[in-house]
Amino acid sequence: MNKSKLPGVGTSIFTVVSKMAKEHNAINLAQGFPNFPVDSTLINTINEVSKKDTHQYCPMQGLEQLREKIKHIILNQYNRSLKVKNILITAGATQGIYTCIQALVKKEDEVIILDPSYDCYEVPVLLCGAKPIRIKLNNSFLPDWDKIEEAFNSKTRMIIINTPHNPSGRNWDLSDFEKLEEIMNKFPNSLVLSDEVYEFISFEKKHISVHQRKNLFEKCISVSSFGKTLHITGWKIGYLVASDEIMKEILKVHQYLVFAVNSVAQHALNSYLKKINTIDIKDMYQKKRDLFSSKMKNSRFSLMPCDGTYFQLACYSKISNESDAKFVEYLIKEHNVAAIPVSGFYKNMDDQKMIRFCFAKDDATLINATKLLCKI
Ligand SMILES: Cc1ncc(COP(=O)(O)O)c(C=O)c1O
Repeated sequence: MNKSKLPGVGTSIFTVVSKMAKEHNAINLAQGFPNFPVDSTLINTINEVSKKDTHQYCPMQGLEQLREKIKHIILNQYNRSLKVKNILITAGATQGIYTCIQALVKKEDEVIILDPSYDCYEVPVLLCGAKPIRIKLNNSFLPDWDKIEEAFNSKTRMIIINTPHNPSGRNWDLSDFEKLEEIMNKFPNSLVLSDEVYEFISFEKKHISVHQRKNLFEKCISVSSFGKTLHITGWKIGYLVASDEIMKEILKVHQYLVFAVNSVAQHALNSYLKKINTIDIKDMYQKKRDLFSSKMKNSRFSLMPCDGTYFQLACYSKISNESDAKFVEYLIKEHNVAAIPVSGFYKNMDDQKMIRFCFAKDDATLINATKLLCKI
């Protein structure tokens, strides 16, 4: 279509790889979703609330009681005291991110996106008529502050950050936030959009949230995902937090994009949530990360450090010189295991001979997959 608004955008790598994995009956360590059962209490809760009067629209900004619960989670976790008016329930983090960008970024603004990144940041920027500015992370997948600072100018409306980071699994250090704050002080019209969907999946290196950085509160939006936190990615529900002035603008878009998020899901989460047991979430995924890496010890893959998320990067250069996309195809077709080529997260499809495995799988799946990977 020659009038396409997004001529450079095709089918996402997740869809392509998932389809190929299905066709070849491969073990799917590609897309980021858990394959183990959801907490039975949550299933019983949604069952019970669905029998009640929960089937009509919720308030536009989300069920007040649920936002109260989120307020307490943020207070417990980060010691930040909020008002419910600063919390918006969203249809997953993706909608939160899209809504923020549409509400806050104008034509010809610049938005800094770090490379590699999760793939839902760039399209909403393009649809605003704004310019995504891609800045590469360093070789350890952490921010290169000299390059980032150099990219900031009076047109920079926003920087999108993500820690724990997909695809690399790296967590930012305190010094990264100090540097970010220093730059934000120099550019008072710029905002920070902080994608923290893996906030409760951090291992030895603790997650630092923007909720712990007072200097950023007024110019920052954080985005969270119940899908990731409670292993219910298909529910597509999350929340964002923003200061009064920013929230006012976000709500203008939210009300015409979704108006209100799925009401049964909101009621179920409200009944279910007391306190998110962050220790259990972290311990469960840490055991999975360690199981996966111990079983991969005898393979020819080199695993990269993983501070958080449920992703493990692996370098395959001892096995093959093929591009990562070709290598993934080979892995699926010849060895029945699916992974994601890391080039899919780069603007220019940079090939680092690295692939991403998702270890949010039951132990049997991880053991079976690693047996196959060790034979390569
Ligand atoms: C970094 C990151 N942000 C956002 C999302 C989307 O979250 P949700 O499913 O809640 O829209 C994902 C999903 O994989 C992700 O990895």
